[in-house]
Amino acid sequence: MPQTRFDEIVSREGTDALAFARKRHAVPEDATPLWIADMAFRAPEAVTSALAERVEHGIFGYALPGEAYFEALAGWFGRRHGWTVDTAAAVPTRGVVHALYLTLQALTEPGAGVIIQPPVYAPFFEAVNNTGRRVLTNPLVRAGRGYEIDFDQFEAQARQAEAFILCSPHNPVGRVWTRAELERMAEICLRHSLWIISDEVHADFVYPGRRHIVTATLDSAVDAATVTCTAPSKTFNLAGLQLANVFVPNRDARRRIKAAYAAQGLSQHPALGLVACQAAYGGAADAWVDQLVAYLDRTMTLIESRVAAGLPGVRFDRPEGTYLAWLDFSELGLDGPALHGLVVERARVWLSDGPGFGPGGEGFQRLNAAVPHRVLDAAFDRLETALAEAAARPAPQGG
Ligand SMILES: Cc1ncc(COP(=O)(O)O)c(C=O)c1O
Repeated sequence: MPQTRFDEIVSREGTDALAFARKRHAVPEDATPLWIADMAFRAPEAVTSALAERVEHGIFGYALPGEAYFEALAGWFGRRHGWTVDTAAAVPTRGVVHALYLTLQALTEPGAGVIIQPPVYAPFFEAVNNTGRRVLTNPLVRAGRGYEIDFDQFEAQARQAEAFILCSPHNPVGRVWTRAELERMAEICLRHSLWIISDEVHADFVYPGRRHIVTATLDSAVDAATVTCTAPSKTFNLAGLQLANVFVPNRDARRRIKAAYAAQGLSQHPALGLVACQAAYGGAADAWVDQLVAYLDRTMTLIESRVAAGLPGVRFDRPEGTYLAWLDFSELGLDGPALHGLVVERARVWLSDGPGFGPGGEGFQRLNAAVPHRVLDAAFDRLETALAEAAARPAPQGG
């Protein structure tokens, strides 16, 4: 396989990378971090050069997005997702998670029921609970090689909910929802007057054979009921620059979300985040994103073959989207702490523990695959050895 720019191993030593904060998380100093979802790849040159130019300018005063910023947003979503955005509907926030908090505070009442679909990104639970709303779960159902939605249960939950946080594509299970699935969920939400908070931060990571459909494009009624959360953070590896864009076509909802933002004492936006976002979406990095997704597609093939060849009892269903691999270790029959201990302490591979994603996460570990193939191969070598050693050792006798 020829080397690509994504094969380069870039040290993150001395950059305050949360991914490497092993001491803080009581993880062995030599464990390979494949947990939190940022990438081991450098952002594209179009972004780093725009940032360098801005840094060279040397003045970092208060900033607001200009016309070119919104044009870049509209260009990206039009080109990449066939979505004609109304730039007046765009509200920049400090991140998608920040946007979830703002939206729940602005559009739902304290104590309101909010549907989420576990196993799912943990901050969905936190956003609902920390804003004093109530989590209503619509657990995804494991079916064949993927996960499906229990629509009857969704409808039952919708009767007592004010909002639904949709993860599209879904972290961690990797589903890219079909038009039929999205339409059915949206129809239920509209019938019960729910806000649809559509977290589409993984929208750019979709593998051949699947297509991401922006929820708001289903029809105009859905558009009016939807808050679409987007960000360049995953696609271009910019999470530390703390900038996302939420699209809120409903004028009153937008006013309320902006008021919630102001009520947090925030009025400007991070200057470097704006520069990076505009450069990322401006068109000069499109080919880089295509190459990145092609690399990650090969990464998923690599994981498939490593799991099949060397990790007996572990199941991996290739994701349709996201750069996350949701690994099922449940057949090994280990309890939660024993499984995570085996992976982190013995194999020295730091993965996200399945139970953190809520019901349905038991027996699973989530692996962030956005790293050079060499790094993954080394991690799988150690997983293989640790699992083989564990299988060779008799289980400890209870006493
Ligand atoms: C579904 C989902 N939403 C939001 C985020 C985080 O977004 P941000 O860093 O913009 O808050 C992540 C990060 O992994 C995610 O997976």
